Amino acid sequence: MSNILIAGTGPVAVQLAYIFTTERHNQVDMVGRAKYSQRSKRFCQAYHQQQQQLEVTVQNNQHQALSGRFRIHHLYADYGDITQTATMNHYDTLVLACNADAYISVIQQLSQRIIKNLNHIVLVSPTIGSHMIVKQLLVELNKQVEVISFSTYIGDTRVMNETTPNQVMTTGVKKHVYMGSTSNKKESDFMLKMQRLFEDVGVRLIALDTPLFAESRNSSLYVHPPLFMNDFSLDVILNGSDVPVYVYKLFPEGPITMALIHEMRVLWQEITLILEKLNVPSLNLLEFMVKENYPVRNETLSNHEITEFQKLAAIHQEYLLYVRYSAILIDPFSKPDINGKYFDFSAVPFKQIYQNEQGMMQIPRMPYEDYYRTTIIQQIGALVGIETPMINRFLQRYALHISKFVEGHTEFEYSEQFQQQYFEADVDLIKSYLKNVSH
Ligand SMILES: NC(=O)c1ccc[n+]([C@@H]2O[C@H](COP(=O)([O-])OP(=O)(O)OC[C@H]3O[C@@H](n4cnc5c(N)ncnc54)[C@H](OP(=O)(O)O)[C@@H]3O)[C@@H](O)[C@H]2O)c1
Repeated sequence: MSNILIAGTGPVAVQLAYIFTTERHNQVDMVGRAKYSQRSKRFCQAYHQQQQQLEVTVQNNQHQALSGRFRIHHLYADYGDITQTATMNHYDTLVLACNADAYISVIQQLSQRIIKNLNHIVLVSPTIGSHMIVKQLLVELNKQVEVISFSTYIGDTRVMNETTPNQVMTTGVKKHVYMGSTSNKKESDFMLKMQRLFEDVGVRLIALDTPLFAESRNSSLYVHPPLFMNDFSLDVILNGSDVPVYVYKLFPEGPITMALIHEMRVLWQEITLILEKLNVPSLNLLEFMVKENYPVRNETLSNHEITEFQKLAAIHQEYLLYVRYSAILIDPFSKPDINGKYFDFSAVPFKQIYQNEQGMMQIPRMPYEDYYRTTIIQQIGALVGIETPMINRFLQRYALHISKFVEGHTEFEYSEQFQQQYFEADVDLIKSYLKNVSH
């Protein structure tokens, strides 16, 4: 690691820039898209107004090592500016700190010279199959490049004040995150270096055998489609609600019903079958939820039921998943007040569709990112011969709600997110990749 280019200027990019600058031999640059986006333009303005400083604060004292005021080597307002600089930049590492559906677009905005020199590309928040897309995209320009997929971003980081997006706050940090590399070497040197770097700021990166293995260790792939692609949630996201309702609450305060839990289990099974075809060990969904996301009290679920979850009958699995969501309606480890009320953990509101600064309607990350990720999984399923009726139903339901809304609201201008999308470019790359590896 030494010359690093971070693509993106969101909170994830800022936090990662901080981590990478803690190693003093690293030269860290960032690149935005200020000509195209008001958000990115605001980031560049705030950066220059505040003496080219960036800042990460943390909510929790135990994460102090992730916070600091710092400078990067250079911020490029636009991709075109990198190529225009007189000094010939060589980056050995590209960190894609953007949404997974933008990987192709970001890479295509970089010059061939930059791409040919890259040794490593880090996918910070990929979906199942993202490394295939990136690897295949570079098959001619840079066949040797090592692609490293994280299972997910290391925590929760957000901009607190929209006028100063160069200052972000990390509100939560995961116990650990997984990563996997396309390098044929069993222990990639680059992954070892990253492990050391992240260890120094208190974040554990666990190396797995393959990027696909890491990409599959992200519980939101399994739980977001049922939680956000049901009639209740889609209606709230598109039309709002008379009284507040919440993502993680039981019906009628939120979307969680027995039917939703059933769909969650069936989705998990479909993804499991796809992963098996691709030689990736299956994920014990309940164990992952309890041990890696939010724990429940020992009294709530027995350890035996957690560890044996995959062997239980379907109805038993659904029962346990329902119990798990019921058990974390409140934070079971919080201190109750004098009335016996625990912290209202599940009161997470839905984000509604909104108009961006250009007046175009946008779909929030949940469920738009889930739509992209689930479409890619569906297409991988089709390529490896696994039927995915549940996934198909989620995607159809989502598309139907969106198209009905657009038909009923001709007063708005809509971004392309509101058109039915198949992400053909991404799927074609995965198709070619899978064809090549099977020979
Ligand atoms: N923040 C978190 O705590 C968190 C937690 C878990 C996972 N994640 C995931 O991590 C990723 C990044 O998160 P974030 O919060 O930093 O998101 P963000 O604020 O939306 O940042 C994404 C960055 O990518 C840029 N981008 C998007 N499409 C692009 C394109 N086609 N070409 C060039 N640049 C493009 C965005 O530019 P603009 O600013 O111009 O839009 C922005 O700079 C997301 O996929 C998110 O779901 C984040």
